[in-house]
Amino acid sequence: MRRRLIAGNWKMNGSRASLVELDAIAAAAAAAPGVDVAVCPPFTLIERAAARQPGLAIGGQDCHAAPKGAHTGCIAAAMLVEAGATMVIVGHSERRADQHETDADVKAKAEAAIAAGLIAIVCCGETQAHHRAGETEAVVSGQLRGSLPVAAGDALVVAYEPIWAIGTGLTPTAADVAAVHATIRGVLVELLGRARAEGVRILYGGSVNAANAAELLAVPDVDGALVGGASLTAEAFVPIIEAAAQ
Ligand code: 13P
Repeated sequence: MRRRLIAGNWKMNGSRASLVELDAIAAAAAAAPGVDVAVCPPFTLIERAAARQPGLAIGGQDCHAAPKGAHTGCIAAAMLVEAGATMVIVGHSERRADQHETDADVKAKAEAAIAAGLIAIVCCGETQAHHRAGETEAVVSGQLRGSLPVAAGDALVVAYEPIWAIGTGLTPTAADVAAVHATIRGVLVELLGRARAEGVRILYGGSVNAANAAELLAVPDVDGALVGGASLTAEAFVPIIEAAAQ
């Protein structure tokens, strides 16, 4: 049985004042012992977040593939660990688009993250054009074959986030999510073998909120959610944690 993971991605939002939200989020996590709950705030808040709520998993939103060196503005996986992070998102579509990250970049980052002792949440997802053209499963499979670290076990999580569903209020149908997650599981089996693939959690992300969480989390092979906007406040995030605990 895979434990459910509900992870919040604050993206470039939040300040020290926002950390008060973690108190109620941590309380909800404690009341849902069968669910793993994580928050990935901006780098500058990781250390304070981890210190404020040691029972909550805290993650980064990116890391560099190299352990150290002349990479101005970047952060190494070991630095995230030192700050108190236990996981990191890599290959988010916003970074693939804005920072031109390739599948090979994402794979190298995921390998570096896992080598440093972090759980790597590797993201994939198709554009609206791909979705409309019926190319979703081909695109996502291709991304994962290029982005997934082959040496990963339990330290790997996959997040399926259709780009057209991020921040738009749109979501795929439950049947579409089921089909894509089954395809992802198949790619994991192909790359990792069945035993290890069965241990990898596959999250759905894109406009998850209190109203749709229960339906999305009930879809076969959906092992949790990666939540953007609705993770910024406890008021919006806690009902998603509660839905996962059902
Ligand atoms: P929203 O939940 O705001 O659509 O964002 C999803 C996402 O990109 C999480 O990584």
